[in-house]
Amino acid sequence: MWAWAIESDSVTDTVLVVDFGAQYARLIARRIREAHVYSEIVSPSITVEEIKARAPKGIVLSGGPKSVYETPAPSVDPAIYDLGIPILGLCYGAQLIALQLGGTVSRTGQGEYGRTELTTTGASPLCVDWPATAQVWMSHGDAITEAPPGFVATATSPGAPVAALHDPERRIFGVQFHPEVVHTQRGNEVFEHFLMDACGCLPGWTHVSIIEQQVAAVRAQVGTARVLCALSGGVDSAVAAALVHKAIGEQLTCVFVDTGLMRSGEADQVEDAFRRQFKIDLIHVKAADRYFAALAGVTDPERKRKIIGELFIRIFEEVARDLGAGEGNEGPTFLVQGTLYPDVIESGSATAANIKSHHNVGGLPDDLAFDLVEPLRLLFKDEVRAVGEELGLPHEIVWRQPFPGPGLGVRIIGEVTPERAEILRHADAVVVEEIRRAGLYRELWQSFAVMPAVQTVGVMGDGRTYAYPIVIRAVTSDDAMTADWARLPYDLVERIASRIINEVEGVNRVALDVTSKPPGTIEWE
Ligand code: XMP
Repeated sequence: MWAWAIESDSVTDTVLVVDFGAQYARLIARRIREAHVYSEIVSPSITVEEIKARAPKGIVLSGGPKSVYETPAPSVDPAIYDLGIPILGLCYGAQLIALQLGGTVSRTGQGEYGRTELTTTGASPLCVDWPATAQVWMSHGDAITEAPPGFVATATSPGAPVAALHDPERRIFGVQFHPEVVHTQRGNEVFEHFLMDACGCLPGWTHVSIIEQQVAAVRAQVGTARVLCALSGGVDSAVAAALVHKAIGEQLTCVFVDTGLMRSGEADQVEDAFRRQFKIDLIHVKAADRYFAALAGVTDPERKRKIIGELFIRIFEEVARDLGAGEGNEGPTFLVQGTLYPDVIESGSATAANIKSHHNVGGLPDDLAFDLVEPLRLLFKDEVRAVGEELGLPHEIVWRQPFPGPGLGVRIIGEVTPERAEILRHADAVVVEEIRRAGLYRELWQSFAVMPAVQTVGVMGDGRTYAYPIVIRAVTSDDAMTADWARLPYDLVERIASRIINEVEGVNRVALDVTSKPPGTIEWE
């Protein structure tokens, strides 16, 4: 179900990563791409015929949370070992290789979790010139106790009698540790030796080659048709738009709907980058009044999201109609979506026939009757940012922290009004400015202000105040699925608090959110 092949001949070297579960496969695929080799995540149910059709230069079997002795335990067709394609098994993948090729995997009762010392016992083509002992990251219960016939064991650890092994004839390799994890010293070298030495891959997957390929693919897909792209101010839609513009120039029209719920400076930045710098045909719809009117009196978070999403669709439809969509050949027939590779893996769909509701544009309906152009669907977020930089997009857009589609609407807890949006936007700008000044902006997954729309009593000068509180929300995260509250330095918190109180009229109190996810979510609504 993961199967989705690259549609260009220009990248010839592909490595398939067989996904045995959890988050391991994704990280492995990223590490391989960091070595400039294109990698793709595939399901264990992939057949030998399907593998042959993709002609990969190598196959990596990922780790996974299960034991090889569980029933059912994820497995691959053992015929893959006879294809003559180099194979690397990591953790569970190494154990599966050992088991399927006649070695022994045992429940030793001595699992290893976390940093572990690896002892070299022989020469390994992947751990070249490693010292007698090295630090690696382990996470296993079972262990390989006997290598299969034809294999050489080259390392051991306290809980893994065979911690590295390979068959020099068939170029099949296994390591019990996780080279994809940063805590494994020299883990990247393991991939580099596998990719370059064992598989003979060429490092052809670069930002420049990604752009060339996608430009060619977009041209081939849309021909002379007109294309529409909804910009949100976020990095994905911005990079997708810039890429499509590079491919088809004036055939592209971008639409930016200013909901009145954007971050400070967002609308200007989009205008500046797209209209002035890239000379892209940009329709800027100033719709704040319509949004505030639609949101008047609404406090339920889900209702707010629905209202904001639906209004976006209505406005988008109006723009599309104005451009002649649905009335013959002149109107746009394609729509650009900033779908990323993790979305493709997660949705498990080979075709992105449906536009996902969580996506930037806020869930456009199927009956908009556009074909989708998805130039980022092969890419991870870090690759999108690198492509954005290569295309010359401004730093502020490329490195902007994620922002929810409904914008400040879900950061004002209670009714959304123009006055509250203005106060929150101002307070948020202070948070972001100070976080940037402290050099923490890129380190943090998100850092922003939230306004619980209650009022509290305070005292300023000689007078009593009755005004809004602002909550500082800052989190670290890898993928937003889980998050930890960021331990911001106290002097930074103090600076933010005092600036907000002094500079933002309507606020008399600042609090810090110290909730992780779970049990909280990153956003407050
Ligand atoms: P939560 O609050 O669920 O958020 O922990 C996880 C990540 O998703 C972002 N988010 C959204 N993004 N539309 C979006 O495009 C939305 O409705 C939405 N809600 C949350 C949030 O900012 C965080 O990065």
